[in-house]
This record gives sequence, structure tokens and C-alpha cells, in this order.
Amino acid sequence: MSKRRATITAVGHYVPERVLTNADLEKMVDTSDEWIVTRTGIRERRILQQGASSDLAAGAIENLLVRRKMEATEIEMIIVATVTPDMLFPPTACVVQDKIGASNAWGFDISAACSGFLYALAAGAQFVESGAASKVVVVGADKMSSITDYSDRNLCILFGDAGAAVLLEPSDDPQYGLLDYRMYCDGSGGAFLYMKGGGSLNPATHETVDRRMHYIYQDGKAVFKVAVKGMADVSAEIMQRNNLTGDDVAWLVPHQANLRIIDATAERMGLDRSKVMINIDKYGNTTAATIPLCLSEWWETGKLKRGQNIVLASFGAGYTWGAVLMKWSLENPAK
Ligand code: UT7
Repeated sequence: MSKRRATITAVGHYVPERVLTNADLEKMVDTSDEWIVTRTGIRERRILQQGASSDLAAGAIENLLVRRKMEATEIEMIIVATVTPDMLFPPTACVVQDKIGASNAWGFDISAACSGFLYALAAGAQFVESGAASKVVVVGADKMSSITDYSDRNLCILFGDAGAAVLLEPSDDPQYGLLDYRMYCDGSGGAFLYMKGGGSLNPATHETVDRRMHYIYQDGKAVFKVAVKGMADVSAEIMQRNNLTGDDVAWLVPHQANLRIIDATAERMGLDRSKVMINIDKYGNTTAATIPLCLSEWWETGKLKRGQNIVLASFGAGYTWGAVLMKWSLENPAK
């Protein structure tokens, strides 16, 4: 009997209207458009002025439901990948479930930083493959502006806010859908990228706030080195495991942290830039939302085609990293 395979049958995204450009940041910290573009590839990012990550997630899922012509009550599970939950509890998945009226769904959050979406995708696929669920929404949503110090030029240029979602259902053809994944973590990398305050280790106090522990800390250089290697290695590994060359892969869908990391990964895979989804220039690093945001935008413009092999790859805090291979099954949007 052939395997029941999970596949993406709908995509959706939500980005806030407010645009924060490099020119805006030049007025806030000692930086320049030229530095930001050459070091990161980022030109602007979106900022959610009111609301929380659940609003980004809900907006993305509502977009997905309209495109799929489906009711929220049909959703069976909601898995939210985020490092900026509305609150430590209740789970953001519950807030989202209520906001969109998914009254028949259960769900939970996954915290795996920039690899959150891939971890959540792999988890969601298990429910579909086992037969436990047939309509699983996986959403990456991060209001990174809520934990970004806008007086720190090392960090405030990098991040933006967005939500993006996919729907996993059983594939009508077992050759299509999520074919393979490789996930890793290495907790010894925890010291290089974290937010120290507000958790059970350092509960919020006046002191933790005075010491700015409620903001992201990153040793950019250290993370850069391992991110380049980690994302390139895991992407090459998933190709080798499945006997694929660069010619067999239609798209690399990389986490959007730095254009130089993306280029190094593509080079290692033997892929031309034209086969790489890149929107870091418009949105910066939206953490769990970057990969589904690419999928949603590329599908919307008709560039993702049924039957294409695509590799999704990420690297982030933890350290966490991974890659997913899938054969795309969703037809282009009706013109
Ligand atoms: O998504 C999760 C995983 N995260 C990542 O993958 C991020 C990985 N790291 C990076 O992408 C890069 O390390 C950054 C973009 C964060 C930084 O780029 P870099 O080329 O590694 O720069 P750097 O941190 O080594 O800084 C080089 C110089 C320093 O000045 P000195 O010490 O050489 O005088 C910084 O102070 O650039 C300076 N600098 C800036 N200058 C203008 C740092 N930030 C800025 C800025 N504008 N915004």
C-alpha cells in the first residue's frame, strides 16, 4: 500500500502596511543604506504597529482560507511557529483559533526560532501521514519588532514582522508532497543568539528591563559562520539523500536572514540565483514567517508549478537548522 503523504494545498500571508526603510533607520541609528544592503541585502521591512503575532497569523490564515475557498471550521489543527508569542501562555495557537473562528481545531505552538516553520511543517506532516488529521494549518508568525532594540544598529536593521501559512492535506498522488526532511539542533549554540529576559531563568524585573534583557542578543559574526555552513550542508545533504543535482531542483526556498548566507547555500547546491526565492530586500528577517512568505508570494505570481522539486532550508537560534524536500502539488492561481 502506498504511503499517505502530506502536501501543501493552500498558502497565504499577511504583512503589515507600515514600511520601515533603510533611510528611516539612518535617522534612528548610525548606519547607512549602503552598509545594510551590501552586508545583508535588506532594503526595507514591515512593522506591525498595533496587535500581536496572533494577528499576523490570523491574517495569513484568513488569506489562505479565501484562496482555498474553505471555512475556518474545516481546520482540524493549527500549529503556530513563533518566538514572539502574544504571551508566554496561553498558546498563541489558541488565540489564533479563537480569532479566526476555527471552532473544530486544536493546536499548539512550536518554538524553534528561524527554523520554527520547518520544524512545525515536519510535525504537521506527521499528523497527516498517520491519518490522525487531514487539514492541518502550519503558520509562521513573528512580530520581531516587539523584541528588537531600535537603538542597537547591529540588530534593528535585520528584523521585520510578518505571518504566513500553509495548509497540509493528504496528497492525491503519493509522488507529490513532503518527500523528505532533515532537522538538527545544537544547544551549544545557545550563547550566540537569545533573548535572556522574561522567561523562568530571568523573570521580568526592573533590573532585567534596565539591562535590556527583553531584546534580542546576537553575536552576528559567530552566527554567520555556522549559519553559512549549517544551511549549505543540510541543503546539500537532502539533495544527496535523494540523488538530486542542481538541475533537478526548481527552487531553493531559504530562510531570509542574510543574502550572503542564501548565496552561499545556492552555490553549494549548484543552483543559479534565478532558482532561489529571495524577498529579504522587502521584508528583512521575519523569523518563522520567511519561508512560507516566499512560498505564498511565488505561488501568487504563478512561478511555483506542480511537479517542481523544491528545497526549503533554514538556520536559526538554538542552534536549530534543517531542510525539507517536496514535490510541489498546488496548481497555479486561476488567472
Ligand atoms: O536568522 C537567524 C540567524 N541569524 C543570522 O543568520 C545572522 C547572521 N549574521 C549576519 O547576518 C551578519 O553577521 C550581520 C548582518 C548581523 C552583521 O554583518 P557582519 O558583516 O558580520 O558585520 P559585523 O558584525 O562583523 O560588523 C562589521 C562592522 C563593525 O564595525 P567595526 O567593529 O569593524 O568598526 C560593526 O560595528 O560593521 C559595524 N556595523 C554597522 N555599521 C553600519 C554593525 N552594524 C552596523 C550597521 N551600520 N547597521
